[in-house]
Amino acid sequence: MKREEFLRTVAGVVAATSLPTIGSASTKDPISVPWPAIDPTDEYFWKFVRTQFPLTHDRAYFNTGGLGASPYVVIDAVKAKMDELEKISETGHNDQVWREVKTPIAQLLGCDLEELAFMRNATEGINVVCNGLPLKKGDEIITTTHEHVANSVPWLALLKREGVVIRLFEPSTFSAQENIDRIQKLITRKTRLISIPHGTTTTGQVLPVKEISKLAKSKNIWLFLDGAQTAGMFPFDLHDIGCDAYAACGHKWMLGPKETGILYVRKEMFDVIQPKFVGAYSDNGFDLARGTLAFHPSAQRYEYGTVNVPLRVGLGVAVTFLQKIGLENVWKRDKALSTYLFNALSQIPQIKVLSPANDAERSAMITFQHTKLPFLELQQHLNTFKLRTRGVSEGGVNGLRISTHIYNNFEELDRLIEGVKSAG
Ligand SMILES: Cc1ncc(COP(=O)(O)O)c(C=O)c1O
Repeated sequence: MKREEFLRTVAGVVAATSLPTIGSASTKDPISVPWPAIDPTDEYFWKFVRTQFPLTHDRAYFNTGGLGASPYVVIDAVKAKMDELEKISETGHNDQVWREVKTPIAQLLGCDLEELAFMRNATEGINVVCNGLPLKKGDEIITTTHEHVANSVPWLALLKREGVVIRLFEPSTFSAQENIDRIQKLITRKTRLISIPHGTTTTGQVLPVKEISKLAKSKNIWLFLDGAQTAGMFPFDLHDIGCDAYAACGHKWMLGPKETGILYVRKEMFDVIQPKFVGAYSDNGFDLARGTLAFHPSAQRYEYGTVNVPLRVGLGVAVTFLQKIGLENVWKRDKALSTYLFNALSQIPQIKVLSPANDAERSAMITFQHTKLPFLELQQHLNTFKLRTRGVSEGGVNGLRISTHIYNNFEELDRLIEGVKSAG
């Protein structure tokens, strides 16, 4: 595409503020202006994608692992739905909207829409699993030393309340097999659950979840995956992985509105993971006088009460936006950027890269340390270059984490690399 043509298209995009809401005829194509040809190797294409975000150019934003920036199309869909609902003062909660939003999410995650429940964030999904599983005193749970607070505190609360036992392993960034071996060594007759991240928050390491799932099944142990750092980053199929439950947020790599999340529960686990917070929409009929209650036949049983429908509609639009680019293409871009950074940082003598060298285990988050500067001082130094990084103290890692997503580019990474070189 020629530059003038590109700029015209961009102007058209910016002018196109009347974006559709879920349920309208154009739902399947949330961006009404023509797109350039989708080519993950074409910088022009990614420049076009960048115009879809209000995210400021003043500062390079490398913290998608903390919070994703939403594109205009998502923000406008939320606003439009809110305007629509406020005019009639209705909740907007109905089966059709739920199906329309859950369908693209189910496609993205490789599961059935009946296996998905809306949550406010990943933490809420983790709590549903943690408090819903029939775990009692002495039952053992295996997890890592690199958990985010969200996959630590709920299990610690269960330890305090019920007396479950938490057994930890430190993820090895050198060998996938070593992680399987470390888990294997912790398994006893009392192990009931493995609760690990699909991708760690610390070094962005992608754990060998399919093999761990096979191991768990062979020992009759449940497997829960914290998917906060993988949903929307790269393609995978939850049915193929074979985990029992998976919790993710909509507001990181999926680029959805803030306070959106999703919980996947494998169908066969519906009666094992008990819904503990319940109310309107959790049931499939009840009678208070007779003392009867049937839970909803789907994972909707984990949802309850009045919710913010515009946010959920926005999440559906965010996923449709990612699907329009193609999640394979998103991953190609994220991986091209993170590999560039990984290689450049690896060549700086005073830098120690903590993310796995093995390509298959490395995600779009690269974590590193400076051999002379404490990570918070390095972060402050990089702030002066207008670079938003994320400090990682979890697991005693004490490094800086750089997330690369579809709104980032190689020039920003060059700025970061120069900033790192000039530190210390
Ligand atoms: C691995 C992991 N799990 C859970 C969370 C918490 O996500 P949320 O704030 O959506 O509950 C995060 C957030 O950074 C995370 O990195």
